[in-house]
Amino acid sequence: MLSGKKIVLGITGSIAAYKTASLLRMLIKHGAEVQVVMTDAAKEFVTPLTLATLSKKPVYTSFVLNTHGQWANHVELALWADCILIAPASANTIAKMAYGLCDNLLTAIYLSAKSQVFVAPAMDLDMYAHPTTKRNLTTLKSFGNVVLPVGNGELASGLSGEGRMLEETEIVNHLVQYFDKTKRLAKKKVLVTAGPTYENIDPVRFIGNHSSGKMGFALAEEFANEGAEVTLITGPTQLICKHTTIKRIDVTSAEDMYNAVTAINKKQDILVMSAAVADYKPSKVSKVKIKKNNSNFDLPLTKTKDILAYLGKVKPKNQILVGFALETNNELEHAIEKLKKKNLNFIVLNSLRNKGAGFATDTNQITILDKHNQLTEFPLKSKTEVAKDIINTITTLL
Ligand code: CTP
Repeated sequence: MLSGKKIVLGITGSIAAYKTASLLRMLIKHGAEVQVVMTDAAKEFVTPLTLATLSKKPVYTSFVLNTHGQWANHVELALWADCILIAPASANTIAKMAYGLCDNLLTAIYLSAKSQVFVAPAMDLDMYAHPTTKRNLTTLKSFGNVVLPVGNGELASGLSGEGRMLEETEIVNHLVQYFDKTKRLAKKKVLVTAGPTYENIDPVRFIGNHSSGKMGFALAEEFANEGAEVTLITGPTQLICKHTTIKRIDVTSAEDMYNAVTAINKKQDILVMSAAVADYKPSKVSKVKIKKNNSNFDLPLTKTKDILAYLGKVKPKNQILVGFALETNNELEHAIEKLKKKNLNFIVLNSLRNKGAGFATDTNQITILDKHNQLTEFPLKSKTEVAKDIINTITTLL
């Protein structure tokens, strides 16, 4: 979620500095590259060695890097950063920042900053409540810095109240949200369907299919990485969502999926229907387990609602609607027919005849066919890469 983002993590002299080891790990786990910069006071609470080991980079603590007088270039560091996070920010550092003092490397980087600065205050409740601190924080906000809220609770002094550094996970969430806003699908509402549907025959049996949901989940993850607000409506699957912002709705049958989709379809900018929805369901579901006997067994089936066809019918003008077609023969002919019949912007075709494509594999080989009959063939790729290709095609339509 912070993949490739460069972050300067500035640590100052507050007891909350001990939490920066886990904060740093979280940032790195989210894909960020982190350069730690500490003030002298911070080193009393957590060692540079710990943070250098976790960040796999030397920690900068002063203007002078080594005994040969080499300088840590604060201007270069400030320009390198995609954002600067000062956590914990002590009352002293906040005051220096408000007044433009730069008597250490961190405050000099702050003064040279070109990217967004986040400040996570941490101090005792009376220091936090002091009018000077309040005024300094207001000043920092007026400069365009993001001042994160503080937590309320037990403090190192033994007192209880406002002043605790915001929880590490919440700090990371603020950063994720900030970077999401700068992404190309920021604010776009996206609905993805995934997986199979199960149509009950009786309490123990159902009609299903081999869909694993992997393609739909890969799409949901990649849409979320692009900053979209993603709802994933999925049939039964063992898969889990990695991206915490994805809203997941679990359903079982085609009817459940239809109800879940049609409750929200009008609000969406983009709809990608990758679920393998059952076309037929048992006409009657037995309440008790059906017992075998000596004769053959006929199961009457009724058509399910075609979700994609319905969406094509009610599609608002600017909504993008994408369907999938999994075929075994006459692939292109069938795909063209579905594209037209279901009023799609484009259809993603995959053939079970292609090795490595289709159900349960980690790879897929697709052809995209758009409503102007333009055909784009892609080579065999991981489903994550395929999801990126599909999203790139969608962004050209926006
Ligand atoms: N689909 C759907 N609702 C259904 C059946 C299919 O929304 N009841 C969607 C799928 O999610 C997919 C597309 O329609 O995006 C194509 O599904 P597919 O089963 O390949 O096509 P069908 O139209 O059902 O035709 P057929 O089964 O005859 O190939």
